[in-house]
Amino acid sequence: MNNFELYNPTKIIFGKGEIQKIKNEIPKDAKVLMLFGGGSIKKNGIYEQVKDALGEYDWMEFGGIPPNPEYEVLLKALEVIKKENITYLLAVGGGSVIDGTKFLSSASLYKGDEPWDILAKKIKTDKGMPFGTVLTLPATGSEMNSGAVVTRKETQEKYGMGGPGLFPQFSILDPSVVSSIPERQIANGLADSFTHVLEQYMTYPVDAKLQDRFAESILSSILETAPLIMEDTSDYKSAANFMWNCTMALNGLIQKGVPNDWAIHAIGHELTAFYGIDHARTLAILTKSHYTYNLKSKQAKLAQCAERVFGITEGDEQEKAEQCIEAIEEFFLSLGIGTSLSSYTKEYEGTAQKIAERFTERGWTGIGEHGKLTPNDVEQIVEMSY
Ligand code: NZQ
Ligand code: ZN
Repeated sequence: MNNFELYNPTKIIFGKGEIQKIKNEIPKDAKVLMLFGGGSIKKNGIYEQVKDALGEYDWMEFGGIPPNPEYEVLLKALEVIKKENITYLLAVGGGSVIDGTKFLSSASLYKGDEPWDILAKKIKTDKGMPFGTVLTLPATGSEMNSGAVVTRKETQEKYGMGGPGLFPQFSILDPSVVSSIPERQIANGLADSFTHVLEQYMTYPVDAKLQDRFAESILSSILETAPLIMEDTSDYKSAANFMWNCTMALNGLIQKGVPNDWAIHAIGHELTAFYGIDHARTLAILTKSHYTYNLKSKQAKLAQCAERVFGITEGDEQEKAEQCIEAIEEFFLSLGIGTSLSSYTKEYEGTAQKIAERFTERGWTGIGEHGKLTPNDVEQIVEMSY
């Protein structure tokens, strides 16, 4: 097992009817800015619950943060924060609203001239404005981690950011919110959380028995929950499992002491930046190609996953690994998610070269768990995904 440090200060408040507990968590003298997305919370009753909980506070709202939170929109929220002397942020939404809020938490205390530098120059955030979240869409795990991803449409760029100052102080996870989520987003949440586990697991063995079992149990639980929640989003039991699976898949726990990959995410963000493809779907496009291209270096873990998660017992190690890749692909397809780039855009020719060029320009010349995948490798993986 590799050395590690584990730090996660986010308080989770989980369960039905818990949104009202916002009032126990935000200091009474705070000036609060509540942030939300395109308005789903106004149709499903979440807005009313948050409004009631904020009753006695001095608070304002900022809506309209789009999926793949857009830098230009966030700058408008930043103006409000500065002008109104806001001291506490409350994100009410999915990964996009929470990530946008993390950017604002960082940018509102940032001393430099150009907040975009936080993203483009990967400036780590040690201290941000305090914030909490009410999760409305299980998927990203952003509610219990310190990372965020922000998009700039103007330049077709999508960058990650983070730091120990960007953990939410609290996150309220009420699985009842799942009932209003459209099928497309449920499928996205399942595929995204599944891939989060894969990126922290599908590397090479370091005899980290507990981490492996944690990861495999989350994968199994996602597979078990998927058909149930796809069938009926108002089934509270499945919604609760779906939500907690997603949070546990990316709250830092399973990545400790083991190698991490994250190549699928790094390449996937480019597909969103160029074509606006939903984050989770970019992952489904790339997973098979990435694992097939890197079969040799990932074979032992792929075979272990085949046995322990998919119950595959036939064949030697390589055959089991190949069957595992097929089983993952089938899982994405079972969610109605297309797994090739051409199912999303007709303009795919040249994508691989464009992405490889960007990686070279940025100096991302060695990605993956071994730090050895070059822009040329990335180009081939993307081409295999057309
Ligand atoms: O904007 P509204 O109207 O609220 O509608 C949203 C949005 O259109 C809707 N929605 C959310 N909750 C709902 C609901 N509709 C009905 N009922 C509800 N209860 O769902 C749509 C998508 O929301 P979004 O927040 O964009 O989805 P998701 O949670 O998948 O977030 C995706 C973003 O998170 C980033 C992605 O790159 C992408 O930008 N990620 C963040 C990570 C992190 N911070 O750790 C890790 C991930 O790998 C990912 O990169
Ligand atoms: Zn993801």
